[in-house]
Amino acid sequence: EYKKPIGINIDLETGVIPGAKKLVRRLSDLKGYFLDEDAYNELLKDDPVVYEVYAVEQEEKEGDLNFATTVLYPGKVGKEFFFTKGHFHSKADRAEIYYGIKGKGGMLLQTPEGEAEWIPMGPGTVVYVPPYWAHRTVNTGDEPFIFLAVYPADAGHDYGSIKDKGFSKIVIEENGEVKVVDNPRWKE
Ligand code: 6PG
Ligand code: NI
Repeated sequence: EYKKPIGINIDLETGVIPGAKKLVRRLSDLKGYFLDEDAYNELLKDDPVVYEVYAVEQEEKEGDLNFATTVLYPGKVGKEFFFTKGHFHSKADRAEIYYGIKGKGGMLLQTPEGEAEWIPMGPGTVVYVPPYWAHRTVNTGDEPFIFLAVYPADAGHDYGSIKDKGFSKIVIEENGEVKVVDNPRWKE
């Protein structure tokens, strides 16, 4: 009745976890997420892969843990860097740990009241996502940004409010610089 322990090597170059469940998110899966709709529609002709997730997940039970790598590709829609959808956990008080493996980027975090934080990430960066904070990763570099996430098996994903309202900050490139600025479309 005890589960078998798992020891597995992540391919640090590609982010692949052997035997993991693979999820692919293309640009067409991110409709309505980016500010520049003309740039979005132009890029949609190629419908590039924005990110892939390799997840090892358990039954949704309290006390157990899931882990997953994400491979977030480089790119921009207009000025905005490619990002993951971003979510609260369905059980909103479930925390999470991220660990940077390869490439360059960061995490946008946000409270339910819309207070945002930006944490730059690179290989070796640990990010603690406290209970109740929504989280989205952003690739600000020119190679895939790869990281590991470890999260409670019963956390779940609540995409709804981020899909509707986004984050109060956006991450853009302006004059060759990475800038974290107020989201002009954000409403309280
Ligand atoms: C999780 C993690 C992480 C995340 C991926 C894709 O809770 O499972 O935060 O694995 O799901 O990086 O991001 P989205 O779930 O926001 O698309
Ligand atoms: Ni999460």
